[in-house]
Amino acid sequence: MSGSASASDRKFHYTVARVLHWAALVIIVFNLLSGWRLDGFELDIKKVLLMIHSGVGTSIFAIMLFRWWWRRRHNLYTPPGWWKRPSMVIQWVFYPLLLTQAIIGVTVAAFIDYEVLGFGFIPYSSLAADNPGLQQFFLQSHTIMAWILITLVLLHGAERWRMMFVDDISTMNVQEPTKLP
Ligand code: HEM
Repeated sequence: MSGSASASDRKFHYTVARVLHWAALVIIVFNLLSGWRLDGFELDIKKVLLMIHSGVGTSIFAIMLFRWWWRRRHNLYTPPGWWKRPSMVIQWVFYPLLLTQAIIGVTVAAFIDYEVLGFGFIPYSSLAADNPGLQQFFLQSHTIMAWILITLVLLHGAERWRMMFVDDISTMNVQEPTKLP
C-alpha cells in the first residue's frame, strides 16, 4: 500500500506515472493537431486517417483511465491543499475532459455514414444507425472540447515552464524530490 511504500517503490510509482504522462502527452497533441486535417481527403484516405485517429483516441482513453487509477492507488502528486492550487486543479480536470472527448469521438463515428474502424477492427461506425444531424451535433461538441483541451494543454505547459524558474517544490508532498511531469 502507498502508506507503507518503500522509497524505491515510491520512485517506481512516480516513474510509471511520468512515463504514462509523456506517452499520453505525445498522442494527445498528435490527435489535437491532426484532427483538424481529417476533412478534405478522399474517402479511402479519410478512412485510413480515421482508423489512426480513432485508434489513438482509444489509446488516450485507456492511458488516462489507467493513469488516473495509478495516481489514486498510489496517492501521487497530492500535496496538502492541492485543490487550492490552479496548476494541480488543471491537471485533474484533464482526466474527465479527455475521457469525455474520446467518448464524444466515438459518438461522432457511431453516427457517421461511412466505416470507421478503430485500430482497423473496432467497428465504431456500426454502433448506431447513420444520423447526419446527431453526427454534426457531436462533431461540434468534439470541436469545442478540442479547443478547451488545447487551451488547457497550453496553460499546463506555461505553468510547468514557470515552475522551472520558481522553486516551490517545498510545497509539494512528494517523497521523491525530483522534477514533476
Ligand atoms: C481524446 C482523444 C481525441 C482527440 C483529442 C480528438 C481530436 C479531434 C479533433 C481536433 C478533431 C477535428 C474537429 C474538427 O474538424 O472540427 C477530431 C475529429 C474527429 N474525431 Fe476525434 N479526437 C479524439 C478521439 C476520437 C475518437 C476516440 C474517435 C472515434 C472513435 C474520434 C473520431 C473523430 C471523428 C469521426 C472526427 C471527424 C472527422 C471529420 O469528419 O472531419 N476522435 N477529433
